[in-house]
Amino acid sequence: MESNKKQNRITADLAFKGWAAGIDRTIRFSWDALKEIFLGARAGTLPWSSCLMWGMGVSLVVIYDLDTAIFRRFHAGVLYPKSIWWFTGYYLVLILSGFWFWGMYRAGVKIHILRRLTHVFKSTGLRNALGELPSFICDRPIDAHTRMMRLTKRSLALDRFEGARPAIESALHIYIDELRDHRRSGTVDIIYAHEPMPDSVVLRDCVIPKDQIIVGTTRSGQLMSDFRSTPHILVAGQTGGGKSTCVRQWITTLYLSNPSYKFTLIDLKGAIEFQLFEKIPRVEVYGDMDKAIQQLDALGEELEDRMKILKANGAKDLETYRAIPAEERKAPERPNANLNFDRHVIVIDEVAELFLSGGGTSGRDAQRAREVVSKIARQGRAVGLNLIVGTQRPDAKALDTQVKANLTGKICFQMADQHSSLVVLGNARAKDLPPIPGRAIWQNGIRQIEIQVPFLDYARTEKLLDPFSKESKSCQSNEASTQTKS
Ligand SMILES: Nc1ncnc2c1ncn2[C@@H]1O[C@H](COP(=O)(O)OP(=O)(O)O)[C@@H](O)[C@H]1O
Ligand SMILES: [Mg+2]
Repeated sequence: MESNKKQNRITADLAFKGWAAGIDRTIRFSWDALKEIFLGARAGTLPWSSCLMWGMGVSLVVIYDLDTAIFRRFHAGVLYPKSIWWFTGYYLVLILSGFWFWGMYRAGVKIHILRRLTHVFKSTGLRNALGELPSFICDRPIDAHTRMMRLTKRSLALDRFEGARPAIESALHIYIDELRDHRRSGTVDIIYAHEPMPDSVVLRDCVIPKDQIIVGTTRSGQLMSDFRSTPHILVAGQTGGGKSTCVRQWITTLYLSNPSYKFTLIDLKGAIEFQLFEKIPRVEVYGDMDKAIQQLDALGEELEDRMKILKANGAKDLETYRAIPAEERKAPERPNANLNFDRHVIVIDEVAELFLSGGGTSGRDAQRAREVVSKIARQGRAVGLNLIVGTQRPDAKALDTQVKANLTGKICFQMADQHSSLVVLGNARAKDLPPIPGRAIWQNGIRQIEIQVPFLDYARTEKLLDPFSKESKSCQSNEASTQTKS
């Protein structure tokens, strides 16, 4: 008898706990659904039109009294709201139910992600020395295409998450754009989308803000880089990845958007890539070693001159110098020095041709080139000498380590092997990139993001630069002079 009572108490206890857990889960799930609706509305991912259409459909059901029929069909007619207040509440719930269903769907997806994530972390061994797995904090939309999932890092290095990236992508059926490390809070953000990135993006606007370049497009928009914060850039990747096309796009947009910039373009493979820019003013193109070395020497002197001018004017960098009115600028060292300077962009495509002796380069020339480029990389930032260096092989032989260390912006197209990718990015991401021309990883500081470089084709570049070409300029001046004579 006593044992029966005890058994009943235990059963009641268990039933109560089961109920309590169920209610707790329902409340949490409802809360999650509400949060999804709110965040979706804020990020613009909430399907307003579908939810409102649903509301209209439900309204028709109520107007034509079909709902009472449904209640009666299930022998629940007594539950149908009779007073005006209950009816208003019931009607409101019905017409807003579309939003609610959407919120519940998103909350369900989140639960599904959570389960799979735990599975992925276990199978990829992503756990710390104490055996703890990263845990999920939140998942929310950033914009119409991208979402962000925040996890605790559990003291794991970002590289470990990078290693698990392909497994996470295939387990969750997502495409990861970026992994963001938050050291202070000990969390990591996974920026992802459900759709793959477009294989090709055409560059639309070629005139952009001063000192900036268009690095690439991500799903959430255009990614820009600024010479003030990222003065020198490394462009790496195997042949056919899109290095030269990318550099051509940058030179063109910089040229069109910054009328006082100067350019030195060096391509020792005969300057075929830069032929297009030969005819336009403010640009010098070098395809032969001797001339390139001479120009690099001249650039070394220009760097010294600029340093002296900034010093004489008490300016710490080009920006502070540019803020001084032209008539107030001083030139104590060299009275006829050009005081009206802006940035000078130095582009070296396939830098190994310049730095490696043999072929067309003598050991002394290669050494000289290394010295000047290294000096510009170290000191060019303040005086407005900016480097863009393209290479297939970014190892110490082909690219000076000191130069590489100062190229703070890195764009890396697909690499043939893991080693080359490791040399540029410190991980294998460039090897794992899909073989799509223009697809690359952009790194600035520790931030790495997958991008598609907007495509500016050769014919359009020619058209854009045509009005500037020296030939058309001289034609215009000839025409003008004949007109004045006549
Ligand atoms: N951003 C891009 N979008 C679409 N196609 C591209 C892009 N970049 C390059 N391509 C295509 O790939 C080809 C090779 O590009 P290229 O810049 O010459 O590569 P690399 O200099 O790395 O050898 C180009 O002729 C072009 O057709
Ligand atoms: Mg090339």
